[in-house]
Amino acid sequence: MKRYFVLAVALTAAAACTGPSSVSSPDGHIKVDFALSDGVPYYSVSVDGKPFIEQSRLGIAAAESDLSGTFSSAGSSLSSHDEVWTQPWGENKSIRDRHSELRVNLKNGSGVKLAMVFRVFDDGLGFRYEYEVPGTDTVRVNDELTEFNFASDARSWSIPGNFDTYELTYRDLPLSAVEDANTPVSFRTEDGIYASVHEAALVDYPEMTLRKTSGTRFTSALAPLPDGVKAVVGGTFKTPWRTVQISGSAVGLINSALILNLNDPCVLEDTDWIRPMKYVGVWWGMHLGINSWTADARHGATTSEAFRYIDFAAANNIEGVLFEGWNDGWDTWGARQDFDFTSPAKDFDIRKVTQYAASKGVSYILHHETGGNVPNYERQLDTALAWAAEMGIHALKTGYAGGMPGGNLHHSQYGVRHYQKVIDEAAKYKIMVDAHEPIKPTGLRRTYPNFMTREGARGMEWNAWSDGNAPEHLEILPYTRLLAGPMDYTPGTFDILFENIKGNPNLRQWNMKPATECRVHTTLAKQLADWVIIYSPLQMASDLIENYEGHPAFRFFRDFDADCDWSEALQGEIGEYVAVVRRAGDRFFYGATTDSSPRTLVQPLSFLEDGKDYTAVIYADGEDADWLTNPQSYEITERTVTSTDTLEVRMAAGGGQAITFIPCHEQSEKAPGDD
Ligand code: NOJ
Ligand code: CA
Repeated sequence: MKRYFVLAVALTAAAACTGPSSVSSPDGHIKVDFALSDGVPYYSVSVDGKPFIEQSRLGIAAAESDLSGTFSSAGSSLSSHDEVWTQPWGENKSIRDRHSELRVNLKNGSGVKLAMVFRVFDDGLGFRYEYEVPGTDTVRVNDELTEFNFASDARSWSIPGNFDTYELTYRDLPLSAVEDANTPVSFRTEDGIYASVHEAALVDYPEMTLRKTSGTRFTSALAPLPDGVKAVVGGTFKTPWRTVQISGSAVGLINSALILNLNDPCVLEDTDWIRPMKYVGVWWGMHLGINSWTADARHGATTSEAFRYIDFAAANNIEGVLFEGWNDGWDTWGARQDFDFTSPAKDFDIRKVTQYAASKGVSYILHHETGGNVPNYERQLDTALAWAAEMGIHALKTGYAGGMPGGNLHHSQYGVRHYQKVIDEAAKYKIMVDAHEPIKPTGLRRTYPNFMTREGARGMEWNAWSDGNAPEHLEILPYTRLLAGPMDYTPGTFDILFENIKGNPNLRQWNMKPATECRVHTTLAKQLADWVIIYSPLQMASDLIENYEGHPAFRFFRDFDADCDWSEALQGEIGEYVAVVRRAGDRFFYGATTDSSPRTLVQPLSFLEDGKDYTAVIYADGEDADWLTNPQSYEITERTVTSTDTLEVRMAAGGGQAITFIPCHEQSEKAPGDD
């Protein structure tokens, strides 16, 4: 039956289309076909000549007009594009955008014009809708009808579909067993094709999730506004790109720049003030429950504590410091959410602290927890940012830990608009943003490079007060959430078993479980490796600084450069292991991690510059290390290597390895107290 249907569609298309109706990737191995059947648009995708996405519907259901049917062709065109562009920061500072484009112009009986734009790259495709609806300047989108009708089943990794949070555990399921999922949804077919569905350039529109209709057929499910409408847009509007990354290897997905390539170039005139950095902060103590955000006897963000953190940062080549709980309003968290963004806590002298940080050359990272109270935040936003800028602050972490008012969902058009407003306002004051409880990244960092990083998945915090993140969480993230963009996971806990807080009289349970019943589910070496693997231009060493002071492994963080120039994911399998290298200037940083199985990787060093000697400082799991039974066993060794060498990267169960490659004539950063 199905075969006849596909044939019929193809015949109708041939009759209906004036101009080209298919487009192939520059290397020819991915092909997209467009078709009209009884006035309804469809697309399909083949990879190496085999069906990959079968006939899948396109269109939008709207209140004002028919946006989904009675279409006929109004001509189509093909074009190609090949350009290298640069960005102020990123995994790679320079990126090639090489694609072929098919633009199909359609019009229907209601006078609606639709351009379906398909861009096909060697590593996947994106398509979007460009609508012109006559006679109205408002269109209410009730549903988007985009289908993804995958040709075969696959092993998939995703979190459940949810319009309010991404802080969920990953599922490893046959695609056919997934009922709904947030993107990126990644999968591997039996033919060995790796793919990931996501979206690019999400502006003024709700997020797209996938919902199963049957078998391996999915439809787009958009986050709704409180009245059930999905989006309110103008009469002329474009949707975000719907994207499918495709590769012959798992790491090929990580090395793809497709999401960034589908975003618009940078709109900021001056980007000199935007720069990646490493940071520490008054943070983990609250999550462990030995400090409080409120200004009581257990208050973490006091002026004296701030000075201690600044001193540590300055002495250890750490560029930024975050102080959570610096302001008034924390006593309303979880209730009225009345945070005050210009009123410092009584024991926190923000002027003194910002001045001290500046005198030490350390950047102050401001914190705005909103509790999800968007109206309260937007009322204060301009004043709060102006005040921060006047104190010389250029970095801001935001947070939305709590429901948004009026039944608005974090990932709805309401949420998307708000997150964008903060980025736009922050840019005016030359402030970089790290958003927690955010909208997922869709590559907008290319257009607005002050949107540095964000959370948007289960981060380190979950280890402090819940069953935590399973070892393989960190081998799934790079192939799913991290394909979308940087994440402020905050790796770097050294006191893996929270031994150093046992018996602390200030310890309280404040969330799901007491910290004494919790732990981090990795080895110590894996914490270091994740600084390389989990790309974040604002990279936090999460632990209490007393757990770092004098610790030999902290040298890795001192030496690390968050401002890399080039990156490559070298080897890995989804949910099993991953190895990544980044270059910053003439230094290379390597990180590899494994799930709960021990593993040894054979790692050629061909990424190093030929003919140069490097000192490799190797931070490995100890012989007897094991994430479950002996997580803190590690060893640091040094050897001289060149690009022709191959290393055996031995990793314990739930472990990893981090390596710094420094040209032999250079010194690694000195520890405090060294000559
Ligand atoms: C949740 C954020 O993810 C975390 O980093 C922050 O400390 C708390 N909210 C409080 O703002
Ligand atoms: Ca969070």
